[in-house]
Amino acid sequence: MANLQLKDIRKSFGAVEVIKGVSLEIESGEFMVFVGPSGCGKSTLLRLVAGLEDITSGELKFDGQVVNALTPSKRGIAMVFQSYALYPHMTVYENMAFGMTLEKGHSKEEIRQRVERAADMLQIREYLGRLPKQLSGGQRQRVAIGRAITRDPRVFLFDEPLSNLDAALRVATRIEIAKLHESMHNTTMIYVTHDQVEAMTLADRICVLRDGLVEQVGTPMELYERPDSMFVAGFIGSPKMNFISGKLAENFNAPTVGVRGEHLVVKPSDGVWSGSVIHSENLGSDSYIYVDIGTDEPVVVREDGGKKHQSGEQVQIAPMDAALVHRFDNAGKPIR
Ligand SMILES: Nc1ncnc2c1ncn2[C@@H]1O[C@H](COP(=O)(O)OP(=O)(O)OP(=O)(O)O)[C@@H](O)[C@H]1O
Ligand SMILES: [Mg+2]
Repeated sequence: MANLQLKDIRKSFGAVEVIKGVSLEIESGEFMVFVGPSGCGKSTLLRLVAGLEDITSGELKFDGQVVNALTPSKRGIAMVFQSYALYPHMTVYENMAFGMTLEKGHSKEEIRQRVERAADMLQIREYLGRLPKQLSGGQRQRVAIGRAITRDPRVFLFDEPLSNLDAALRVATRIEIAKLHESMHNTTMIYVTHDQVEAMTLADRICVLRDGLVEQVGTPMELYERPDSMFVAGFIGSPKMNFISGKLAENFNAPTVGVRGEHLVVKPSDGVWSGSVIHSENLGSDSYIYVDIGTDEPVVVREDGGKKHQSGEQVQIAPMDAALVHRFDNAGKPIR
């Protein structure tokens, strides 16, 4: 268990600064999720915390102790990557025990207990005797997570660990990770993802990064309901928030308004905006209706599944409730 303090952390590769002064406090036992566009510095920041890259300037503390100069193993971190990189010639048991056998001072019995405890947590005990090639992708990823758990880390770091898995395995493994965090409630976790559902469901708090800087940190619902900028409003949530500007936003007394698809309704008359249906997508549980109201990109309305709209159909749309409309000024800051 560790509390992490990042103080004005910067990282340059040659002349290029990619982390530009990140300050952030992560509570002991907290599940922190990093999100942000590709190239914004998520993996780099994680690698700086791990000790896999040197910090150019700034201070990184674990439980009040500066760890800038410590190696990954001295920091007590374990990291799980997108590519799980198991040793192909070792059994699952050997893969999971390997890190501990390298560290001196663990008895055979202690190693066995820790491997079995981790295997039980991840429900992979029956596979301990198998080789990685005899496992499915999801099982291999659980072995990679198990290998990290046996090290009994103070801080667990995940870099898009589920992105190689198919949809069903992603869901199953996501739930395993959530349960793992509950059972290891003292272990601090930092988790990088592109997946909105993973971010919303796993995080105690989400840190949105943009171009090497922290844009906003908050609980998932804080970011969803009270984004501090159009950037965060557009980044959190799926489908993306609709932005409507200029004349079309005038009746809300703001240069730009943002409304989420799930907060819009299609009506035959008396809407706020009118337009024509370009396309509708039925996902079963809900459907996305793309409506051209004269903005650059079509507005997406999320309706219950099974509702049907013909392309070309003339419709009116309106927010369900004026309180669900976000208003932004010309600098992209919320007007509240
Ligand atoms: N070793 C390196 N040398 C030079 N530049 C690097 C190095 N590692 C990363 N970068 C650059 O730093 C920036 C941040 O990269 P990083 O991998 O942290 O992004 P990311 O947010 O993890 O992106 P993605 O979502 O695509 O994984 C990028 O512009 C990248 O090209
Ligand atoms: Mg990355």
